[in-house]
Amino acid sequence: MNKVAVARYSEVADRKPAHALIANVDLVIVRFDDSVSVLYGRCAHRDALMSDGVVSGENLLCGVHYWDYRYDTRVSEYNNSESLYKFQSWIENDEILVDEDEIKEWTKANPQPFNREEYLGQYADTHPVAEEDKVGEIQHLAKFGLTKWGHHGNSAAMGVPRTEHPRWDDIQILTGQLHKLPLFDDAEVATELVIGPNTKKPLHLKIPLFVSDMSFGALSEEAKISLAQGAERAGTGIYLFR
Ligand code: FES
Repeated sequence: MNKVAVARYSEVADRKPAHALIANVDLVIVRFDDSVSVLYGRCAHRDALMSDGVVSGENLLCGVHYWDYRYDTRVSEYNNSESLYKFQSWIENDEILVDEDEIKEWTKANPQPFNREEYLGQYADTHPVAEEDKVGEIQHLAKFGLTKWGHHGNSAAMGVPRTEHPRWDDIQILTGQLHKLPLFDDAEVATELVIGPNTKKPLHLKIPLFVSDMSFGALSEEAKISLAQGAERAGTGIYLFR
């Protein structure tokens, strides 16, 4: 056992969480009346510092999403399966003491991922969730500004997710209609299409399909030229976006 002081008892306000760091482990100290609890200082939800939280009734509440832990028993009243580890503590000669050996032992099963030397390392997001997919990007910007992305910021090619592309099934070719009689099977059917027939420069296509939409930049010059030549041979055009 190696008892070390984490705070002066007389300086810890009643029911006001205080922070301590021992063996690279964040602790939260809660004094209540003549007693003290020293708990692991990071929320079981997403690792926020519990010393940034508040005490409400008999609960220590995380300041981020309000997960609760009883400061005396360490267990959540709301969900008993959630808890913070409680370390042994003593009050001696106006000092609050913990056993550094116990904390070091605890870290073997609970290694701490926080690099405090790094900017924002104390507040690393160790439980990223899909709903907050931009947090990493925001923190990257906070850390490096635009130095890693260039002065235009993060940019990506325009595009449409493959699942949202129109498919052949979406092109509905009516085989019969009411205001004209259907053609016989062997009748010639024209596929020409004119876009903007009343404009100065109508666009005449031989087929009702058009090549779209990746921009020059998203695709190389060679790829764009190849697509344009292919479109021309097929009797259609290509959308050119720069
Ligand atoms: S991080 Fe504590 S409640 Fe979400």
